[in-house]
Amino acid sequence: MTDSLDGKMTARLDFTGTKVFVTGGTRGIGRAIALEFAKCGAQVAVNYLRNKSSANETLAELNQYGKGHLAVKGNVADEEKIVEMFDQIREAWGELHVLVSNAASGVLKPAMEMTMKHLHWTMDINAGAILPLSQHFVRLLPEGRHGNIVAVSSLGAIRALPNYFAVGASKGALESMIRHLMYELAPRGINVNAVSAGVVDTEALEHFPNREQMLSDGLAKTPSGRLTTPLDVANAVLFLCSRYATQIHGQTLVIDGGSSVVA
Ligand SMILES: NC(=O)c1ccc[n+]([C@@H]2O[C@H](COP(=O)([O-])OP(=O)(O)OC[C@H]3O[C@@H](n4cnc5c(N)ncnc54)[C@H](OP(=O)(O)O)[C@@H]3O)[C@@H](O)[C@H]2O)c1
Repeated sequence: MTDSLDGKMTARLDFTGTKVFVTGGTRGIGRAIALEFAKCGAQVAVNYLRNKSSANETLAELNQYGKGHLAVKGNVADEEKIVEMFDQIREAWGELHVLVSNAASGVLKPAMEMTMKHLHWTMDINAGAILPLSQHFVRLLPEGRHGNIVAVSSLGAIRALPNYFAVGASKGALESMIRHLMYELAPRGINVNAVSAGVVDTEALEHFPNREQMLSDGLAKTPSGRLTTPLDVANAVLFLCSRYATQIHGQTLVIDGGSSVVA
């Protein structure tokens, strides 16, 4: 077996025995992350907010790759719901080893049309949630066991885009929180990192008034010649949680086919 792309076989990472919680794990990028972990032997808990049919479909698909997967409902911006979800995970598994904070939402409007309520709502889901999620995750990680936290960010954290005032600011805050969490948690054997994706064609893009333009511009500006897929992001998350990445701490790994470095 070889890990080289030129080789005839590709070795899969082995996450047998690893228990993973993916917020927003039932659709889009989160779903791809959950499925890749399950294919590599992990048990996965996927969180969702409202869409029960997507949760059921994703859980059915996860169950094709082993037993013991969970779907847990709750708003990541509501700490009481976070406590309930971690209680469900504790009851089912007793412990947890990987947290992928992927769920996001937010108000897409020009800053001049935005209210403080819109801003707080977006910040609470996309940035604030990482605090209680990490605190409850650390309580479920067994003493002495290595753990991983990966947050899913976007290029709006460092670039200016139309209608992206609140979401971009929330992702900038998230990436900063990841660095500060790393400072506290690396000494405890926990790798804390983020991945940041370019445009990915998921249902989330349907909320953008300029979806078609984002996709065509995104493709035109991507040197690798194709748009980033949910699987590209999932592969990067699994890499960061693997034995190949144990000395990577506090970083934001960009997955965008090179688009963000083009002038
Ligand atoms: N798509 C892109 O172009 C792109 C680019 C860069 C980064 N990202 C980031 O990638 C992540 C996933 O995006 P996506 O495009 O895959 O999104 P998506 O297809 O809209 O899926 C969102 C998922 O998050 C869940 N969710 C939303 N709000 C939630 C909340 N408050 N509490 C709990 N769960 C919640 C949804 O549950 P329900 O099904 O119940 O609604 C769903 O499972 C986000 O962090 C996003 O910012 C996306």
